[in-house]
Amino acid sequence: MRALDRQPEAPLLEVAAWDAGLAIAAADAGWPDDGMLVPLNLGAAESCQAGAGAWPVLPPDELLPAEARFAVVRAPHWLGRAGVEWVVRAAARALPPGGLLALLGDRARGVESLRRRLPPIIGPIVDRAAGEHRRLYLYERQVEDPPPQQFAWTSTQRIAGRDVTLCQHPTLFSPTRVDPATALLAEYLPDKDGRWLDLGCGSGVLTVAAARSDRNLTALDWSYAAVETTRRTLAASGIEAEVLLADGAPPGEQPFDVILCYPPFHVGPRVHHGPAARLIRAARDCLAPDGELRVVLTSAQSPRDLLQPHFRDVSQVASAHGARVFSCRPPTAARGRGR
Ligand SMILES: C[S@@+](CC[C@H](N)C(=O)[O-])C[C@H]1O[C@@H](n2cnc3c(N)ncnc32)[C@H](O)[C@@H]1O
Repeated sequence: MRALDRQPEAPLLEVAAWDAGLAIAAADAGWPDDGMLVPLNLGAAESCQAGAGAWPVLPPDELLPAEARFAVVRAPHWLGRAGVEWVVRAAARALPPGGLLALLGDRARGVESLRRRLPPIIGPIVDRAAGEHRRLYLYERQVEDPPPQQFAWTSTQRIAGRDVTLCQHPTLFSPTRVDPATALLAEYLPDKDGRWLDLGCGSGVLTVAAARSDRNLTALDWSYAAVETTRRTLAASGIEAEVLLADGAPPGEQPFDVILCYPPFHVGPRVHHGPAARLIRAARDCLAPDGELRVVLTSAQSPRDLLQPHFRDVSQVASAHGARVFSCRPPTAARGRGR
């Protein structure tokens, strides 16, 4: 904005914020200290809260129409095309006519092709700035009623030999089809009853695959959209389960007899194993002493690094298309181990 020599009008807004950068930059630049940050999951919310000061940190469904005057989207390219568009629409809806939206991104990550898709959703580009690799486009909201997003919000998919109606959301993992690793895990579930946890449930596909009258199901994710989407997926099949918004292990719950998990991974030249390791440790900490973690890993994830330090009896159950399903038993003292 300094490059454009503009001072944004308050309230400011960032959708899909993953840190408090906007609030801190606004304070540094002497912009009005009035804004809000809207992260997509609890991990991002925690990072936002670390520096948000007086700015509220809100889940996306608490954002009201025309609540902001100036919105920022740092293109979250890892969400894919439909996910990024969802974020832009959410930001555009929060602006009144005449409000401004700043889109920032890298050339190498496709920000220029994104730029061309946005005028029908928001309105024209009214200003721009360029760094060596970075681009900033400033749009003015002129579109009264943005056209609906081209996205299949439900689909029927075959999972472990059954046709299942799945609800989907563009910001979730594998939003248009069941990922082959998910399908593999769904095919190789343990034949057990008791308390089951789908840890990192996404759209709820593994909870649906696990549904059986002798199982008590809990689905958990830290993404706001995942929790809402899983609830809808389960309702579409009449499946009862507790669905929780939480970061890692559900607070204050009884230990689980079976935990299903497809831990997160990041596609790109560098793979970050921290988020997966964090979820695996959470699984270890809420498993019953004779329980089992059934987990699927991609070809970039190592059972030696992710599973063996935390479990005894790590054994491979199935493998296909580079994905591998493992069965893991907790260490003898299952709960309360240090991180
Ligand atoms: C690879 S996706 C798998 C989603 C779903 N189980 C499937 O197979 O389609 C990983 C999921 O874990 C969730 N997740 C990542 N870290 C988490 C955490 N610390 N607490 C809760 N959920 C988390 C993500 O939001 C995402 O939905």
